[in-house]
Amino acid sequence: MTDLIQCMASTAEDELPGPDLLCRDALAGLSRTPKTLPSKHFYDAHGSDLFEEICLLDEYYVTRTEEAQLRKIATTLSRAIPPGAALVEFGSGASVKTRRILDASPQLSAYLPIDISEAALAHAAARIRASYPALEVAPIRADFTADITLPERFGARPLVGFFPGSTIGNFTPDEAETFLANVRRLLGAGACLMLGADSTNDPAVLGPAYDDRSGVTAAFNLNLLTRLNRECGADFDLGRFEHRAVWNAGESRIEMHLVSLARQEVRIADTRVPFAPHETIHTENSYKYQPDFLSALASRAGWAVRQVWQESDPAPLSPGHAGTFCTYLLEGR
Ligand code: AVJ
Repeated sequence: MTDLIQCMASTAEDELPGPDLLCRDALAGLSRTPKTLPSKHFYDAHGSDLFEEICLLDEYYVTRTEEAQLRKIATTLSRAIPPGAALVEFGSGASVKTRRILDASPQLSAYLPIDISEAALAHAAARIRASYPALEVAPIRADFTADITLPERFGARPLVGFFPGSTIGNFTPDEAETFLANVRRLLGAGACLMLGADSTNDPAVLGPAYDDRSGVTAAFNLNLLTRLNRECGADFDLGRFEHRAVWNAGESRIEMHLVSLARQEVRIADTRVPFAPHETIHTENSYKYQPDFLSALASRAGWAVRQVWQESDPAPLSPGHAGTFCTYLLEGR
C-alpha cells in the first residue's frame, strides 16, 4: 500500500477521515437537537463490508438497477471519454460498477478511486490492478466532501468524473449543488461527469430497501454505535437502540434513525449524553432525485446535461412496484 496517497497537500490534517474526526463529529452531532451523526462514518472496514452485503439484498433495488443500466449504456458513455483520460471516482467503495466503464473504455490511461475507507480502497485497487494491468491505478484516501486535490502528474490529462451509486443522495440539494460545483472546478471546463442517482419515490419499494428482513441495514446503521464504543471510548448498549427507516415525502428522502428504546445516559469519553425514550439519532438522508430537479441543480453548478437515462429495476420484489435509477452524462461549461 506504499502507493496509497495518505495525505494531500490541500486537505487539512483535521479533515482526514479517522477516529479524531469521528469523535469530534459525534460529540457535536449528539449535543444537538435533534441528535445527528454524519453518514460518511458508516464506512469503516466492517461498515463497507455491510454495505456490499446490502447491495446484494433482494430488497435493495439500487445496485442491480444501476448495474443493468450501465451494462446497456457503457458504450455510449465511453464515447464521451477522450483518449488518455484519467477516470476520477468519488466514493469508489469496492469499484464494482467501475468495471462496466473500464471494460468499455480501453482509451483510459488511469483510474483514481477516492474513498474514505482505507480497507475498501486498498482492496479495490488491488483487484482493479489485477484485472486491468495496463491501467495506472492511483487510489486516494480522502473524504470527498472535503477539498480534494489530484496528484500533479494527472493535471495534464483529460479528466472524466464518475459518481455512481446515488451517493449524491446523501447530500441535501444545497450540498449536492456545492459538491457538483466543486467537482466542475476540480475536473475543468469540457470535462465530463457520469452521475448516478436513485429516482424511486414509491414507499412500497423504499420501505423494505432501507429496512430489510435479514437485518443487514439495521446492522449497518448500528455499526456506527459500535465504532463510537471502540474508537471514541463510548458505552452505547446496542440492545437499547433500534434501527428505523422513514420515508419523508415532503423532502423526497429516506431517513435512517437509531431510536433509543429507553430513557438512558450514554458516555462518550468524558461527555454524558442523555436520551429520552424514543428519542432518535438521525444517521442518514438518502435523497431520491427526479431527473428534472437534478438536471436543473447540475446546470446551476456549471454542468450542461448532455443525456439522461432512466432504468427500472429488472427484478422488482412485488409486481407493479419497481425502483428506478437515472444516469446523467454532464459536460463542464
Ligand atoms: C451509498 C448512499 C447510495 O442511500 O442507498 C444503503 C447507503 N443506506 N442502505 C443509499 C445506504 C442504507 C446508500 N448510498
